[in-house]
Amino acid sequence: MYLCNRWYVAAWNHELGDKPLARTIMDEPIVFFRDADGNPVALEDSCAHRYMALSEGKIIDGCIQCPYHGLEYDATGACVTVPGQAKVPPGAGVKSYPVVERYRYIWIWTGEPDKADAALIPDFHWNDDPDWVAVGDYFYVKGSYRLLIDNLLDLSHVAYVHATTLGTDGVANFPVKVSREEDKVHVERWIFDEPAPPMFKMVGGFKDDDAVDRWQLIHYQEPSHFMIDVGCAVAGSGATDGDRSQGVTMFSNHTLTPETERSTHYFWHHARNFRLDEPELTEKLAKATSTAFGEDVIIIETQQDRMERAGPKKAIIDINADAGVLQASRMLDGLIEAEG
Ligand code: FES
Ligand SMILES: [Fe+2]
Repeated sequence: MYLCNRWYVAAWNHELGDKPLARTIMDEPIVFFRDADGNPVALEDSCAHRYMALSEGKIIDGCIQCPYHGLEYDATGACVTVPGQAKVPPGAGVKSYPVVERYRYIWIWTGEPDKADAALIPDFHWNDDPDWVAVGDYFYVKGSYRLLIDNLLDLSHVAYVHATTLGTDGVANFPVKVSREEDKVHVERWIFDEPAPPMFKMVGGFKDDDAVDRWQLIHYQEPSHFMIDVGCAVAGSGATDGDRSQGVTMFSNHTLTPETERSTHYFWHHARNFRLDEPELTEKLAKATSTAFGEDVIIIETQQDRMERAGPKKAIIDINADAGVLQASRMLDGLIEAEG
């Protein structure tokens, strides 16, 4: 049910401090910590001796000590110390996972370790690029990552779900254009000559009766990464031709990591490239985006509940706005099937 030979975000890098972090990813319990040089480590969170969770233990000189009988494991997962005996039993160790710290995230490769090429990590430079200021957070979601993928590929929902931040009435009346690359689906919507939504009024100085041209350019990269270019410019000022000088641009980026088939680690950051030295604005944007994406979490968890109660007996229908959703879903299903 998962695409394993891929990079997923396991944590924000600030989550790895001097205590172990326990996180289940694709049904596998994993413990994260830093070795003596500060490099991130991910190990199977189950002791080779009697299954105790290593994440309940201590980090000692870059190794992790099981809290039950004190066996210690190094960054490769090899057991290096067994209290009361000089020799470590041959083969004693736990599984280790390739991990990389990049763009303020800790990335994990959940598939075959020899295929883990850091060059395949998707580009989320906005999260630590000095030309941008990003706010972001983590949500634990009691719902499938597939529902979140659908949510992020169809932004017509902003009119209904995010009325106080990102929504305006007319959004769904403007059709989307969908295109596909080998590993990407692009869903692009332009909204012409409409009022700006509340968040853009706040950051771009647009007034209630100002008309703007607005864009939602969704770039989905399989399995579950989203770079979403959103913005508004004075109506007719040339934004469609690439002139954004009379407008504002933000990147709303999201990445989803399955915990189980019915729960998700949801990481997001929201970046702007204007008014960089205004911490108050950063604070306001952090609040507004957290409110907005929190609204999606409520939708997803409710959907998950209704799906589970309905069981497979209830068919679903599709509408025009699902064009991108269906393309991405087909792409991901195909890749999962091919990986076997
Ligand atoms: S269960 Fe870990 S040392 Fe015994
Ligand atoms: Fe949303």
